[in-house]
Amino acid sequence: MIIESTIQKTRELVGSWRKDGQSICLVPTMGYFHDGHLALMQEGTRLADKVIVSLFVNPTQFGPNEDLENYPRDPEGDAAKAKQAGVDLIFCPNVSDMYLDEDQTVVSVEELSKGMCGDDRPGHFSGVTTVVCKLFNILQPDCAIFGEKDLQQLLVIKQMARDLHFPVRIIGHEIVREHDGLAMSSRNAYLNSQERESALVLFSALQMIKKRVEETQEHLKSAPLIEESCRMINKQTGCSVDYLTVVDEETLQAKERIKGNCRVAGAIKINDRIRLIDNISVRS
Ligand code: PAJ
Repeated sequence: MIIESTIQKTRELVGSWRKDGQSICLVPTMGYFHDGHLALMQEGTRLADKVIVSLFVNPTQFGPNEDLENYPRDPEGDAAKAKQAGVDLIFCPNVSDMYLDEDQTVVSVEELSKGMCGDDRPGHFSGVTTVVCKLFNILQPDCAIFGEKDLQQLLVIKQMARDLHFPVRIIGHEIVREHDGLAMSSRNAYLNSQERESALVLFSALQMIKKRVEETQEHLKSAPLIEESCRMINKQTGCSVDYLTVVDEETLQAKERIKGNCRVAGAIKINDRIRLIDNISVRS
């Protein structure tokens, strides 16, 4: 496995692979790998001849009061895990190479970036789309894999790739969970043992709605179920709901009734310090 930080050398290497007719899959990440990241990389090895993982803690997607400075990092541990997963190249550029002095270009997906995480994190998705756009231009992958845990991010990137005519197939990967159901996240590293216990309430609340839907033949109204789930979360020590919503799986439009292919998606804050997201698919 090669680890490269310069854009020039990375372009040369990827160019030589392309010349040899090798297909390329990109897995964009911010590092501190867990089994969710590794599942995306393993999927990449099945889909293409070469797998590139970008490892870049992207400053433009963090708000002023977010955790950019403290974001967990472990480059050596990450390299060992990625190698084990079958990755060919880790691209880990410097901030000053990705964002040149006085650069002026921002890529933003208008509608899908609104609502849900977009409301709590203004500017977050334009930071994501701008950096992913740069990565697509530098690495020119045939396909790129993103986790469904960040459902809004996945759909925003699909829209960007479509609108800007990127010849990149965007692939969603199912959520990888801990043994008790907590969605894996680099930010789980912030949780102490009490907070770790509390964090599970988000998945339990989502599951409660899924169960209710599966128990009935009717197209249930979303609002009462959401209210019940919010009460459940807000009762849990240290937890508060940022948002909880039922949306159409493709468009993220809010659904008054649970009908068709929906996602129940939510974000909670734990002790006003740690923000976690999750979602679950419900069909009725
Ligand atoms: P990061 O949070 O490091 O996540 C990298 C990828 O792993 C994302 O596509 C995310 O959805 C996926 N992922 C994280 N936890 C997962 C889980 N439990 N199951 C399945 N997939 C999971 O998301 C980002 O980085 C950044 O926003 C990025 C796209 C790299 C742009 O900077």
